Parts: sequence; structure tokens; C-alpha cells
Amino acid sequence: MIDVILGLQWGDEGKGKIADYLTPNYDVVARFQGGPNAGHSLEFEGKKFVLNTIPSGIFGKTTINLIGNGVVIDPVRLQEEIGRIVGECPDYKERLLISQKAHLILPTHRILDAASESAKGDQKIGSTLRGIGPTYRDKIGRSGLRVGDILESDFTAKYQAIVTEHLKLIQFLGYTDFDLSSEEAKFYASLEFLKTHQLINSEYFINDCLQQGKKILAEGAQGSMLDVEFGSYPFVTSSNTLTGGVCTGLGVAPKHIGKVYGIFKAYCTRVGSGPFPTELDDETGEYIRQKGHEFGATTGRKRRTGWLDLVALKYTIMLNGVDELIMMKGDVLNGMETLNVATHYKIGDQETQQVPSNLCNASIEPTYLSFPGWSEKLTHVNGFDAMDNTFKSYVDYIENYLGKKISVISLGPQRDATVTR
Ligand code: GDP
Ligand code: IMO
Ligand code: MG
Repeated sequence: MIDVILGLQWGDEGKGKIADYLTPNYDVVARFQGGPNAGHSLEFEGKKFVLNTIPSGIFGKTTINLIGNGVVIDPVRLQEEIGRIVGECPDYKERLLISQKAHLILPTHRILDAASESAKGDQKIGSTLRGIGPTYRDKIGRSGLRVGDILESDFTAKYQAIVTEHLKLIQFLGYTDFDLSSEEAKFYASLEFLKTHQLINSEYFINDCLQQGKKILAEGAQGSMLDVEFGSYPFVTSSNTLTGGVCTGLGVAPKHIGKVYGIFKAYCTRVGSGPFPTELDDETGEYIRQKGHEFGATTGRKRRTGWLDLVALKYTIMLNGVDELIMMKGDVLNGMETLNVATHYKIGDQETQQVPSNLCNASIEPTYLSFPGWSEKLTHVNGFDAMDNTFKSYVDYIENYLGKKISVISLGPQRDATVTR
């Protein structure tokens, strides 16, 4: 079976930390979508890593890590990323597999991302500018280049043809702030580096693993509210971030999906533009940002902060078929006098527990339920039973509202600041 771990909010829920925490239970950890727009933080034994494309199982001593066909790979960034982890795992090449069907992010995809964002003026998506949207656009438009193409003799000709098209578009958008030749030199060097890795037919690999009864964990990137189908469109990323994406992003049939773990923060954050019904554009929001270090793991951008949104959470639990919940960062709320959670949306004079189909046009006023805060001393050290009763009633209420058990609680960035109930 393939278990799945994914974010239920707008990304940055703590997927990297939990995927790393769960790694000892699995033989294979696989990424199935997204690309270097992801920034997954891991902390253990006093060390800190941020992974973008490499699955978070890489620090498991024997774990195989697969970058699946649904992922988009920037070979330049992947090479840099490998440079950051190779000291910790010198044997990484034996444990890192890359799908030949994964699409390549070309230098002009990154330039196109910047060009189209700058053409959007105040309607910017707030893209990470990693070339994600343009690369998936070419994939769907049937003109992309894939990892396997770098092994073919006509790669350069194919590359030149697509770059010619990209440059026309970039010129049309009036964008000039780039130096393609230096980007291309780095790109070609990184392709040689990529060729020294295990580039495989990953759909056969993963199905063989399933047949042998191996345990696989699919690690999501971004969050369910950034899904291209069901997220806050158009302020979304360009991939299927939901459980459904695991099947197409790895080449496995739906019947192989096992347990689905949904991760959420005890509050909400979002980075980039787009609707955020429970946003706190005030001192409390700033307090949470500072205490929770809510700044992008790779881009350093300020994350917007807000109260926990149970309406959105119930929606994404439904979409993903979540079995168990994992709650992160409760420690960030330690010592707050009162906390709110949104239980309904008020749209006009109607109250609803459904996310409206066009989140961007709806003017939403959340209905909040207030809770007393818990003490400054809340920690994972003595287990769940020893935790503050006010924290336990917060957890109880969320479980009852969502109808799902919170099986793991994380109270710190380190691997061991985690309690399994
Ligand atoms: P991801 O993209 O879902 O992997 O999440 P990020 O790594 O982008 O952001 C999560 C941030 O919260 C990282 O800086 C983590 O180190 C940190 N973090 C994870 N879990 C906890 C927790 O329970 N408490 C606190 N205070 N920080 C946490
Ligand atoms: P992880 O995996 C949070 C957001 C961007 C932007 C929108 C589109 O670390 O949770 P893109 O670069 O994909 O075209 O940007 O999606 N976004 C993320 N926000 N965490 C992420 O990944 C994100 N990846 C993309 O900020 O609003
Ligand atoms: Mg992140």
C-alpha cells in the first residue's frame, strides 16, 4: 500500500518534518507533484535542512527516495540541493531515484514565470518564480521536455525549438530583465550532473515495490487549498496536490492508496496572493508570524497568518479522504489569552459550512468560536495526557467538528518534539 501525507491548508504545514518523522516506518518515500516551489524543513540532532525536490526520506539510513513523474525538476536547483545534503548522506546516489517522465524546468520557464507575474500587475499570483506554472503549462500543452529526453541525441535540437517559442512569448510580454546565456551554461552543466544519477522508469519500480509488499509513503507538496482544481483558483499552484495526484504522479492505481494523513497547523498561514478568509491583518497576526517564524523556508517571504479555518479544513479532509490528522505548531499559540477558530462562513446573510465555489469573489465573514488559551509551558515532553486541559479541549473540539482523530501532535520543529497518541 501507499500511504499519503499531505498538507490540508495553504502549504507549509510541516510536511517535511512529519515525513522525516514517519520515514523509519517506510521503505520508500516518493514525491508525486510540485517542484522546487516546495520548501520542506527538517530538524534533527541539532541540524537543519530545507528540501525542495528531494523527498524528506533522504535522511533515513536505508530509505529509497523517488522523485516521481508528476514532479517538475529544475536540474540547476536539484544540483544545489544535493550539494547541501551530500555531507549528511554521502550514499544518497544509491537511494535517490528519478523518473524519466518528470518534466524539466528550463531557464526560460523561470524567465516566463517572472515575465507573466510582472505583466499581471496587482493581480500577481505571488508565484515562487521557480518556473512551475510555465513548465506544467508546456506539459499539458504537449511541448515539454522530460528527464529521459536528456539521454537522447536530439535533445539540443528539441531544447532550441522550445526556447525559440519561449523567447517569442517573453518578448511579447515585454520582459527583458534576464541573461539567458549564463543561465543556459549552468543548465547544461547540471544536465551532465543529472545524468550521473539513477534515471528510471519509475512506474515499474513503484509497482514492483507494491507487489513485493514494500511500504511506501507519498509526500505531498504545497497544500490542498493550492490545488489547481479545488484550491482558491486562480491563486493556486499548477499541480494536483490532493490524494488523487498520487495516482497520476507516480503511476499507481487508486486501489493501492492506503492511509491518508492530513497535516494542518493549529492556525493558518498563506504565502502569496489570494483569498484567506480568517486572515489576521493586525497585531495578533504579527505576533503569530514572529512566534511561529512564519517566513518562507526558501524564499524568505513573509507568510500571512490567521485563525484556524475549520470550514476549509473539513473541505480538504473530504477531498483527500483523510484517515488521520496531524496537528502542528500548537506551541506557537502557547500563552495566548484567547484563541478563535472559524466554524462557519457568513456570505451575505447566509451562514454556511461549505467553501463557496468561487472563493475569490465571495465576501466571507467567518463566524468564530473562542477558546481560552493554554499555558506557556505546553510541551511534548510528558506526552499528551500530561498536557494542559485547555489544550486538550481545543484538540477535542477540532476532532469532533472534523470527525477525525488527531493522531500526531507536533510541538516544535525538531524531529523528537512530536507526540503520537
Ligand atoms: P512544509 O513545507 O509543509 O514542509 O513546512 P515548512 O518547512 O515550509 O514550514 C514549517 C515550519 O515550521 C518550519 O520552519 C518547521 O521547522 C517549523 N515547524 C514544524 N513543526 C513545528 C512545530 O510543531 N512547532 C514549531 N514551533 N515549528 C514547527
Ligand atoms: P510547500 O511544499 C506555500 C504558493 C505560492 C503562490 C502559489 C503559486 O513548502 O508547502 P507557484 O510557484 O507554485 O507558481 O506559486 O502557490 N506556493 C506555496 N505556498 N508552500 C509551498 O510549498 C508553496 N508552493 C507554492 O506562494 O501563492
Ligand atoms: Mg514549505
